[in-house]
Amino acid sequence: MNASSPSPAQNQASTATLYGGVTNRRVTVRDLAAAKQRGEKWSMLTAYDALTGGVFDEAGIPVLLVGDSAGNCHLGYETTVPVTMDQMVMLSAAVVRGTKRAMIIGDMPFGSYQESPAQAMHNAARLMKEAGVGAVKLEGGERSARSIELLVEAGIPVMAHIGLTPQSVHAFGGYPVQGRGDEAAHQLLRDAKAVQQAGAFAVVLEAVPAELAAQVTGQLAIPTVGIGAGADCDAQVLVWTDMAGMTAGRVPKFVKQYANLRAVLGDAAREFAADVSGGAFPAPEHTFK
Ligand code: KIV
Repeated sequence: MNASSPSPAQNQASTATLYGGVTNRRVTVRDLAAAKQRGEKWSMLTAYDALTGGVFDEAGIPVLLVGDSAGNCHLGYETTVPVTMDQMVMLSAAVVRGTKRAMIIGDMPFGSYQESPAQAMHNAARLMKEAGVGAVKLEGGERSARSIELLVEAGIPVMAHIGLTPQSVHAFGGYPVQGRGDEAAHQLLRDAKAVQQAGAFAVVLEAVPAELAAQVTGQLAIPTVGIGAGADCDAQVLVWTDMAGMTAGRVPKFVKQYANLRAVLGDAAREFAADVSGGAFPAPEHTFK
């Protein structure tokens, strides 16, 4: 078999739906391209460990991002800036081990690709070889296009990330909405087209006005993945700790909380502690004879 004659499993990509269709192999870039053709919207969640990755995989989430949001959501940093390649490799490998079906995307942390396309290649290869991810993500539009091109040429699927790019938090002076005003909107469109031209298989649009995100989505052949970018993107991503109500304090306006896990887990811990101090745990049924 050669590159021009796809295997039966590859043929499956163009016909099966992402939800319920692909059950015995990992979701691929071809499946996501076919979903855009069909107009099928899909979801992506972050995951930082084997346990939660496995839960989301079983729930049928087709794409899991081992985001460098692990920095603030998992590792206790204030921003994503301090996250290292070694940490991303370790977290990504855990999510790969805990899942069977989802495409796992490893995020490239700050400082791991900005220096040169060669640096990007070296570190993307680490995520592919050491962690076993199926794709990588990196931030930047026109400024990252040369690196994206090199990775794609080397056979590494790349998801791009434009709009609000959290690794630039210090340059932005916070997390402001991007793409407002004519010049910023034109730049966002140029960035989107540059990453598509460079070979990215999808692009995250973060914190941009919904109308602009709809325009970008309509002009691209590759799927757009929105986070704070309105309802017209091809896919939606949320940070899992925000989505499930684990995050302490305020969450961004674009987050919908589907559970209140922080309260559930806190209540369970308090009940356990009360049972131990009151002598109700362990009971006879938890005790070996
Ligand atoms: O790191 C991350 O979780 C992300 C998503 C917010 C897209 O980049």
